[in-house]
Amino acid sequence: MRLSSVKLCALCFESACSMLRSERVDGAAHHIDDGVGMSAERAVVVGVTGTLGGAAARKLMSRGIRVIGVARDAERLDALAAEHKLLTPCPADIADDSAIDTIAAAVDGPLRMIFMGAGLPVRGSAETAAPGDFATAINVKIGGLVRLLRATGPQLGAGSRIVVLSGYHATEPRPHEAMPGVINAALHNFVRQLSDLWGPREVTVHAISPGAIDSPRIRRIAETAAAERGVDLATQLESYTAEASLKKFVSVDAIAWAVGLLLDPEADALHGSVLAMDGGRLRSIL
Ligand SMILES: NC(=O)c1ccc[n+]([C@@H]2O[C@H](COP(=O)([O-])OP(=O)(O)OC[C@H]3O[C@@H](n4cnc5c(N)ncnc54)[C@H](OP(=O)(O)O)[C@@H]3O)[C@@H](O)[C@H]2O)c1
Repeated sequence: MRLSSVKLCALCFESACSMLRSERVDGAAHHIDDGVGMSAERAVVVGVTGTLGGAAARKLMSRGIRVIGVARDAERLDALAAEHKLLTPCPADIADDSAIDTIAAAVDGPLRMIFMGAGLPVRGSAETAAPGDFATAINVKIGGLVRLLRATGPQLGAGSRIVVLSGYHATEPRPHEAMPGVINAALHNFVRQLSDLWGPREVTVHAISPGAIDSPRIRRIAETAAAERGVDLATQLESYTAEASLKKFVSVDAIAWAVGLLLDPEADALHGSVLAMDGGRLRSIL
């Protein structure tokens, strides 16, 4: 009796594995236990210790998806993993090619989503940034996405999502945010390119382009931007809400909501596009 029930479980597990290998897996309804008490659905989140990567990871884990979390600071990763049993820490620098092997080694099965949310280490205007800062920014956001794809590509299949965070300066340039403007515009172009590469494999590609979000990151940026513009911090922070017709910051929860939305099968229709989540900051219609 015991033996037959073990056999049945083994059969169920094998059929679940084959479903994961050969069919799309759409959302929590298809949540499968892999026999060791862990969800069989997986995702990789780069920037998991950050405001938005963290929100994305929490949304995925709330749907029972295991998250392989990437960031450089191993201690912060371990602290986060101590809070979330579905989080596996994967310390790696996405700006370095060594991240490819490190992330690939941490991924142990098919991936539901890869999420690229690493922040830029450089900012400034054409007058204040070092010329090489532009290359640094490209290396993190475009090169980083390429490394993430090299590491995880073999585990992407029908129904998987490739998601990258860009930003509204891509289409609403501001002179004091040269790097986010240039690099996020390039990223939108790159998302289109990737959609042609991955679409035939039924893997969809998406950019989420947030407006200003009240976060430690934007407060750090505001301090230097205020000094550059010769205004005080409050004035600089106020400029981030004044520029939006809703006159407020975009919420972190809104970005998490978009990540959840992209898990829906209907989100196939958003393949290759940019989700403009700027809260009324865009002025152009293209
Ligand atoms: N916050 C906003 O208002 C806003 C608005 C529009 C767009 N965005 C975009 O959203 C992204 C994330 O923003 P955020 O506010 O979440 O930033 P954040 O809180 O500063 O988080 C950045 C995350 O990226 C990780 N990271 C940075 N460089 C990395 C590298 N080389 N390799 C691996 N991980 C790296 C950081 O961890 P480690 O430092 O430990 O590596 C951290 O986990 C950025 O690209 C930003 O441009 C943000």
